Amino acid sequence: MQQEIANFTFQNPTKIVFGKNQIESLSTLIPRDRKVLITYGGGSVKRSGVLDRVREALTDYDLGEFGGIEANPTFETCMQAVELIKKEQFDFILAIGGGSVIDGSKFIAAAAKFEGDPTNIFGDGVGTGEPVKAALPLGTILTLPATASEMNSISVITFKEKKAKVGFSSLQVYPTFSVLDPEMTYTLPSKQLANGVTDSFVHIIEQYLTFPVGGMVQDGFAESLMKTLIKIGPDVVKEDLHDYTLRANYMWTATLAWNGILSTGVPGDWSTHALGHELTVLNDTDHAKTLSAILPAVMTVRKEQKFDKLVQYAENVWSITDGSDEEKIDAAISKTAAFFKSLGMPVTLNDINVSSSDIDFLISQLETHECTAISERGDQTLDVSRAIFEKAL
Ligand code: NZQ
Ligand code: ZN
Repeated sequence: MQQEIANFTFQNPTKIVFGKNQIESLSTLIPRDRKVLITYGGGSVKRSGVLDRVREALTDYDLGEFGGIEANPTFETCMQAVELIKKEQFDFILAIGGGSVIDGSKFIAAAAKFEGDPTNIFGDGVGTGEPVKAALPLGTILTLPATASEMNSISVITFKEKKAKVGFSSLQVYPTFSVLDPEMTYTLPSKQLANGVTDSFVHIIEQYLTFPVGGMVQDGFAESLMKTLIKIGPDVVKEDLHDYTLRANYMWTATLAWNGILSTGVPGDWSTHALGHELTVLNDTDHAKTLSAILPAVMTVRKEQKFDKLVQYAENVWSITDGSDEEKIDAAISKTAAFFKSLGMPVTLNDINVSSSDIDFLISQLETHECTAISERGDQTLDVSRAIFEKAL
């Protein structure tokens, strides 16, 4: 078993342009001769005025638009954008939105250059999982801090008919730049702010709550980011509290939570995400809500495997110093659930309308999507996942 920090290569090519009114620097970020397709979601960028501001910043450019990328973006919708790109010869994509628009745009960027059936960009029981060798350049303007898609190589796409939500990762789809203006979060409703804080928190946990390998920098960085979210989360979710410092810390934490810096050389779990994706496929529950509904059960069922890190988490993140190690862990699990509840997030499957009669379907889905040996040691079998779902009821 891995006892030391593993060898790693770290490369993250995304340029981050952070702060107020940074949208105005767009023309310095996109080459002037590019034909730019602006992609967005269900219309929040129109209501907030961000789309108009982007058009103004790019007045001299040849621009087109593709709206309607849904939350949990679908293959079918994204393929319509691919057709438009091929027909009208766009050669740059500018995504404005949250994780869904950015993930959808990454897939669009890859599919526009892919030879053959773009389904095969994905593995996990959906396609053949071929490597992405090229993609159109992509820039992003982030409007919802949560997924870190603005600074990573990952895209998660839903195949409605196949009842699958699967991802791919490629160096080719890192955004070339991402504009992070904390004031863009001021139009977010409390529900999405709570989703964002929670998703970021769970991304950190997936890379931290495994087993110790002596990654002092990675652990310390993760603990600091989690403590920041615990401190600011309850105020960040107040949608009328437009406090720049709060929102700036939230935005930067969400990006750092999953831009690759925390996972360098250390084990990763990602089982909460694997189970969560099946819950979204089942009944369309928001991504972050599936995670908060599952995580306390993961911590409880996997206590033995994660024991040392759970004690470290209790002591360093929640400052729990009294009692036995077992008592510290139990207190940390309770505090984690209480934190999610304080944000208005669900903490059981019942809270998201999932019952025991759904578990057989969820397990068969995990099997179809090749999630039969997951978690940091590959020892989370379907039986263990079933125990987690049952504990989370
Ligand atoms: O569609 P519009 O009208 O823009 O509204 C969106 C959407 O309804 C709204 N919104 C976004 N910015 C707003 C705003 N409303 C008002 N003001 C603003 N400034 O928020 C709603 C949710 O947006 P969405 O992009 O779906 O949320 P999120 O950023 O949480 O992304 C979730 C997706 O990302 C995937 C998830 O699975 C899910 O499909 N993930 C991607 C990851 C990655 N690329 O690394 C990792 C994550 O773990 C996750 O799996
Ligand atoms: Zn997530």
